[in-house]
Amino acid sequence: METPLLFSNIKHLYGITGPSIGTEGAQIGNEPISLEDAFILVQDGEINAWGAMADCPKAYLQKGKKVDCSGKLVLPGFVDSHTHLVFPKSREGEYRLRIQGASYEEIARQGGGILNSARVTASTSEEELLKAAEKRAWEVLKNGTTTLEIKSGYGLDLESELKLLRVANSLKELVPLRIKTTLLGAHALPPSYASDREKYLDIVCQEMIPQAAEAGLANFVDVFCETGFFTPEETRKVIRTGATYCLQAKIHTNQLSISGGIPVAVEEGALSVDHLESVTDEEINLLQESEVIPVALPTVSFFLGLPYARCREMWDAGLPLALATDYNPGSSPGGSLPFVISLACTRQSLLPEEALKAVTLYAARALGMDKEVGSIEVGKAADLVVTKPMDNLAQIPYYFTQNPVEQVWIGGACAWGNLENS
Ligand code: NIG
Ligand code: FE
Repeated sequence: METPLLFSNIKHLYGITGPSIGTEGAQIGNEPISLEDAFILVQDGEINAWGAMADCPKAYLQKGKKVDCSGKLVLPGFVDSHTHLVFPKSREGEYRLRIQGASYEEIARQGGGILNSARVTASTSEEELLKAAEKRAWEVLKNGTTTLEIKSGYGLDLESELKLLRVANSLKELVPLRIKTTLLGAHALPPSYASDREKYLDIVCQEMIPQAAEAGLANFVDVFCETGFFTPEETRKVIRTGATYCLQAKIHTNQLSISGGIPVAVEEGALSVDHLESVTDEEINLLQESEVIPVALPTVSFFLGLPYARCREMWDAGLPLALATDYNPGSSPGGSLPFVISLACTRQSLLPEEALKAVTLYAARALGMDKEVGSIEVGKAADLVVTKPMDNLAQIPYYFTQNPVEQVWIGGACAWGNLENS
């Protein structure tokens, strides 16, 4: 048994679920609560107990290591359930074109966008991709992310897609983040298959999915279901093939139009539908009757000037809405979940506590990981964010240019941060 670790004098502890042990009383359910002047005891990488400082057993105070959190908030580590973190190069040339009025779709139609990144990926070595991705992974970690999903999708041929997935998996050795990976071979149709879409889908279904799954390189499969990319029926085919290899589906849909991905995702039992910048009332009703997690990506709306997803309405409809960064070079070149929280509050009318739940518990659910991470609960991993000194949770979205994170703990180990003041 490792020496226990006590986070003491927490000004405000957020995102607590489940019963408390080691203290009097508190028995709570799945709806996260918060507690002022609190403690957390960590043992062997897991949350062992939490409660009010006033109830903190003397034994906890006497033995083990301590992290004094006076004046600071403690939150569950953030979960980013949707990124394209492994990519070769930024695309600010296209950004300049967009400033001058070109749309994301126009740039894509002219061979830019995803196809641009795919061309560069082909001539970039695994080492170079890894070096660039590692830098980004530390950047997201410093912003409070403790669990990260990473998609392929800039390869668009068997070897390059596997290369991207290998890089994403190699990051696990270099950065202490919990990482899940997704095969997104159906991200865009390579121009050489323009007259034979079937052939490319065969490569996705008969080569990429089996090989990625058999090599243990992917946890999930994804498709960009959108006008000009892949149709709902093509999406269904990929989801079904993924399911035969035990890869659950996470679908890009309704970014640029009502693209038909939601009904397919619901019918096929996908894990999540992501983007949703456009969504109809009927689609919200469909999601209500399903287990599919909706994932909104507010920084895409910010960066591309698209409508913001109807987060308030989806939340009020009782949907377990998750929020993610979509970190990628085309539609969201940034991986800050605090900024995502800020946009969700300022532009999409979520309350700070709701946005927090969307980047923790519901985001964990969008990765099938809500039994392990996503809230402060006895038995879950001790993945924690300790903030800089601040008064309350609303100051995170309010001070939208500041990084609120002082320390990041993953599995009870300090992954990043300044322990000087603790
Ligand atoms: O999630 N929409 C599709 N894929 C990415 C963008 C990819 C890119 O532009 O490089 C997204 O926004
Ligand atoms: Fe994406």
